[in-house]
Amino acid sequence: MTQDPTPSPQGELTLQTVPMPADTNSNGDIFGGWVLSQMDIAGGVAAHKRAKGRTATVAINAMRFHAPVMVGDVFTVYTSVVKTGTTSVTIHVEAWVQREVDAIQIQVTEADFTFVAIEKSGVKRPLPPL
Ligand SMILES: CC(C)(COP(=O)(O)OP(=O)(O)OC[C@H]1O[C@@H](n2cnc3c(N)ncnc32)[C@H](O)[C@@H]1OP(=O)(O)O)[C@@H](O)C(=O)NCCC(=O)NCCS
Repeated sequence: MTQDPTPSPQGELTLQTVPMPADTNSNGDIFGGWVLSQMDIAGGVAAHKRAKGRTATVAINAMRFHAPVMVGDVFTVYTSVVKTGTTSVTIHVEAWVQREVDAIQIQVTEADFTFVAIEKSGVKRPLPPL
């Protein structure tokens, strides 16, 4: 039996954008904070869906930057729910880039974001049933 050696994104496509020159650091690569911010937004979208409402980021774990992001890359974020608790949901977030038309996607980052379901007041609330 043969296995596909090409790694591929895991999860649901949740966000897609293109970084601009204003998002670069002093090396000319895209600033890590911009990347983290896009991942937090995508994780928040997935968490909002599972929590059926407002959430807050409580923790970011196992953050890993695998490769730099460049201006003009097609930057795509994939999300999957990996764990739920009483009030929290943990989302595995992967970011991939496509550098040229027809090129394969390269994974640039991954992390586990934990969100807590909250009321409008900011107080935590139980996750609703699926
Ligand atoms: C989110 C918040 C309402 C949680 O309230 P809290 O009283 O601290 O809640 P708890 O300590 O009981 O934790 C709530 C849940 O988060 C989980 N959690 C807390 N810290 C965690 C961590 N470091 N890693 C993983 N999960 C964590 C707990 O296990 C618990 O999960 P469960 O209910 O599913 O078992 C509160 O911490 C808060 O407002 N934090 C600031 C959030 C924020 O502003 N985020 C934006 C950052 S810019």
